[in-house]
Amino acid sequence: MPERIVLTGMMCSGKSTVGKILSQILGWNFIDTDKLIEHQAGMTIPEIFDRYGENTFRQLEKDVIKKIVSLKNTVVSTGGGAVIDRSNTELLSYRSILVYLKASPEKLKERCRSHTRPLLEKKSLNDIYRERQNVYERIPHQVNAEHQPFVVAQKILYLLPPQNPVEIPGIERIIFARGLLKIIDQYLPENPKFFLQRKVFETFRSSFEKRDVFVLPDGERAKTLKTFKRALEFLMERKVERGDAIVSVGGGAASDFTGFLSSVYKRGMRFFNIPTTLLSQVDAGIGGKNALNFGGVKNVLGTFYHPETVFIDPLTILSLSNRAYRQGFAEVVKSAIIGDPDLLSFVENNAGKLKLKNLEALKKIILETIRVKLNIVNRDFRESSGERKLLNLGHTFGHAYEVLLNLYHGEAVALGILSSIRLGERLGITEPGLYRRIFEIFEELDLTRDIHRVDLLNRDTVLKLILQDKKMKGGKIEFVLPVKPGKVIIQPLDPYMVVREVMK
Ligand SMILES: NC(=O)c1ccc[n+]([C@@H]2O[C@H](COP(=O)([O-])OP(=O)(O)OC[C@H]3O[C@@H](n4cnc5c(N)ncnc54)[C@H](O)[C@@H]3O)[C@@H](O)[C@H]2O)c1
Repeated sequence: MPERIVLTGMMCSGKSTVGKILSQILGWNFIDTDKLIEHQAGMTIPEIFDRYGENTFRQLEKDVIKKIVSLKNTVVSTGGGAVIDRSNTELLSYRSILVYLKASPEKLKERCRSHTRPLLEKKSLNDIYRERQNVYERIPHQVNAEHQPFVVAQKILYLLPPQNPVEIPGIERIIFARGLLKIIDQYLPENPKFFLQRKVFETFRSSFEKRDVFVLPDGERAKTLKTFKRALEFLMERKVERGDAIVSVGGGAASDFTGFLSSVYKRGMRFFNIPTTLLSQVDAGIGGKNALNFGGVKNVLGTFYHPETVFIDPLTILSLSNRAYRQGFAEVVKSAIIGDPDLLSFVENNAGKLKLKNLEALKKIILETIRVKLNIVNRDFRESSGERKLLNLGHTFGHAYEVLLNLYHGEAVALGILSSIRLGERLGITEPGLYRRIFEIFEELDLTRDIHRVDLLNRDTVLKLILQDKKMKGGKIEFVLPVKPGKVIIQPLDPYMVVREVMK
């Protein structure tokens, strides 16, 4: 493992922003050589240029770079001109990954508009770019810096050697490792057929463009009979046989679709899953439930069918939007309430790190959440003893909120969990104070934004959706209620009373 990641590139290419993000993700220190020079000289860089000129600045820069070589677990952002001096480049490359953040002059100008840069007072950005281009092009690792900072960070982290995998054995084997996507061929049978969501294909194009890929429409549009028909044609045209492998790459919609397809095509194909959203890594992609939507009803068609192996690479989730990322915590908190009070405390105490996508914290919550789910699924795969129904905590109201408020699945589940706890407290089943505790955790994770919209919903409309729920039995709804963290129960309740109590 390299001791440092060093970023170089033109002014405004994002070295400091991406550097800080990388340090938060890895839990490493962050150093900005320009800031260190300013600190040591006791003046700003424009002042150094003004008073002593560029040569003095370059000497100070060289001194700082010499000191950096002894630092471990550090992300370094260098001044854009540091690598012009070959001896600096050698030092910066020593036991490090030196990366050139590449962006076009147009993009750089656009980003530089609000900054004061002393060099720009003497030369144009185009001239500086032209002068340095050859130097930068010699750097072996180059990353397109025009993407969003987290996507740039993701590309840089894929340059690191992959972590040793952690394995959870079982009928559904789980393999977890940072960077796993890079070495996925080691684990897959030959010539698999990949089913990727459009955005996932665009994000990881270089890993998949030379493979046999079926691109799924994003989101729920994948889970339709129309896409199913196209997918069948794709498999039949390629004369795919029963022993061949099908691989889902994407969020829960991709694995719901691809799992269903794998379970029925030729009465069951070899199925592998590479979940790429937090929600699918902790929940949707695990446990062998899959589904298509039909007639306006979500998940009405489906089978139980395990993937042989689920490959989890936490780096994949770095390219998710903030909103898509955060919704995944709803399922983490759900599993923690159901079966792991320590996990709940961990989320509560580490929300800050989790929001910054710190990999150690993510590894802990992903693996622990999977353990809770698999413990239950292994005992009750087909929901026959009823234990698996516990995993529906928050989903009865959640599904109604998802449709009525047009929310992401996890956002709706978070609000659904709060509704269940409120109901449990009102019925005297849930320990007092749990609502406040879970509300504060969700608030910290930015999952309570839409809570006021729940109160504005029409009771009858919510009731109508709840009556369609798969958990209805003999006029009662099997409702999951928390007693306290680590203990949840299923209670058959009158749906009219449930809605009245929750939506007072
Ligand atoms: N089967 C189950 O047990 C289960 C459980 C919970 C939810 N679900 C289902 O899962 C679905 C929701 O899953 P989801 O939240 O993962 O959303 P999703 O699958 O709809 O994906 C959301 C979006 O993120 C994009 N995306 C995925 N990975 C990305 C990445 N790494 N970088 C950039 N973009 C990326 C996708 O292309 C898509 O546009 C719903 O259909 C829900 O019903 C199933």
